[in-house]
Amino acid sequence: MACQYFAPCEHGATSFTIAIPKVTFGRGTLSEAGARAQSLGMTDVALFTDAGLLDGEYVATVKQSLTAAGIAFQIFSDIRIEPDDFCVEQGAKFIRSGRFDGIVSVGGGSVIDTAKAADVCDKHDSPLRPFFAKPIGEGKPITETPLPHIACPTTSGTGSECTSIAVVRIRDLDTKFVIASPLMLPAQAVIDPSCCDTLPANVIASTGFDLLSHALECYTAKAFTQWAGVDNPNARPLIQGANPWSDLAATKALQIAGEYLDRGVNDASDQEARDQLMWGASLAGMAFGNSGTHMPHALSYGITHLMRDITTEGYNVETPFVPHGVSVIVTAPACFRFTAEAAPERHMEAAGFLLADQQGAGLDDAGEILSKRMIELMRQTNMPNGLSGVGFNEHDIKPMAASSVRQARAIANAPRESNLVDLENIYTDALNYW
Ligand SMILES: [Fe+2]
Repeated sequence: MACQYFAPCEHGATSFTIAIPKVTFGRGTLSEAGARAQSLGMTDVALFTDAGLLDGEYVATVKQSLTAAGIAFQIFSDIRIEPDDFCVEQGAKFIRSGRFDGIVSVGGGSVIDTAKAADVCDKHDSPLRPFFAKPIGEGKPITETPLPHIACPTTSGTGSECTSIAVVRIRDLDTKFVIASPLMLPAQAVIDPSCCDTLPANVIASTGFDLLSHALECYTAKAFTQWAGVDNPNARPLIQGANPWSDLAATKALQIAGEYLDRGVNDASDQEARDQLMWGASLAGMAFGNSGTHMPHALSYGITHLMRDITTEGYNVETPFVPHGVSVIVTAPACFRFTAEAAPERHMEAAGFLLADQQGAGLDDAGEILSKRMIELMRQTNMPNGLSGVGFNEHDIKPMAASSVRQARAIANAPRESNLVDLENIYTDALNYW
């Protein structure tokens, strides 16, 4: 490629692969679910949602649309926020109990990820854990063709409708891990931004920071040319590094976050801002789903592993819980301070997309300029003040770093190499920002 960031490296990859679903975006598109299911040959649908959405208007719209298209359906709604392997395996049992020829999921990332992973378990007649990489699982390959899946997101953050991954908590280890396969990509994404009209400000904020960090992480990820080339083109990993496609989608997603995050959080009536954030979330999904994330997401796993008595206001959960976007953003400014020296131009450009004040700044200031702009956005949207804002202190640093260091491929996708001590230093820097 012409761009210097993607300059060829000895033994490095020379190609990259892009996969995205067929995407439909716009207000009212949930009512297209039936026709879209019909176009995929579905006659009997497994409809995944959660208890909070079950009796609401989005699920009602999808049910009506399926019925109008002459499509039968049954509903699985026993899905918790941050689903675990037990929840996924229940979903697999549900699929096995019917004669389904398609899946429609209506919900946030938890619902969409559960639908993806449940179908994998059903098609392989297997529990979930063996599919995770060793030593967590057995690295069991995903080989069976899943049911066609139409994913309808109701939040503007995870981008799961556009990715081939699912994030699931393993109950025995109390930690989240990722499973991924090109076969897990939904066939279609039906993205109706009116689903975000009534979301509370803190949900728009945490999901918005998830989208922002997805975009920032793929824009600043190690170039795909720096990863080793693969012998089997079908085995090219999804975490393949920054590439011209992920740049394109991430750039636009960053511009959207820079302009609309504050507005969308602080004014529920600002439909333009919330629509844009929904589009930005899907774009960021299309970006990181084809590049991988890096340190902020890797470090978020240590936070959700070790949270104890923290339950964030506004979420209907009984167990300790830090929203995913919050767990990512509390360390992100410290992560980018660390990574900037390895790719200062990229960090500076990203800061510019986020509308940072760059007056008089040189490339040596890139990490500081970028983290300063992120902290400004965090303060404008009432985010916690770093790790201390979600109840952690200096005694938690070592265990968190020891937990997160297991996310090896994501950490290696960062532009700068790091070791356990670096992770501890980043967590320390992230204790508070103001
Ligand atoms: Fe995320």
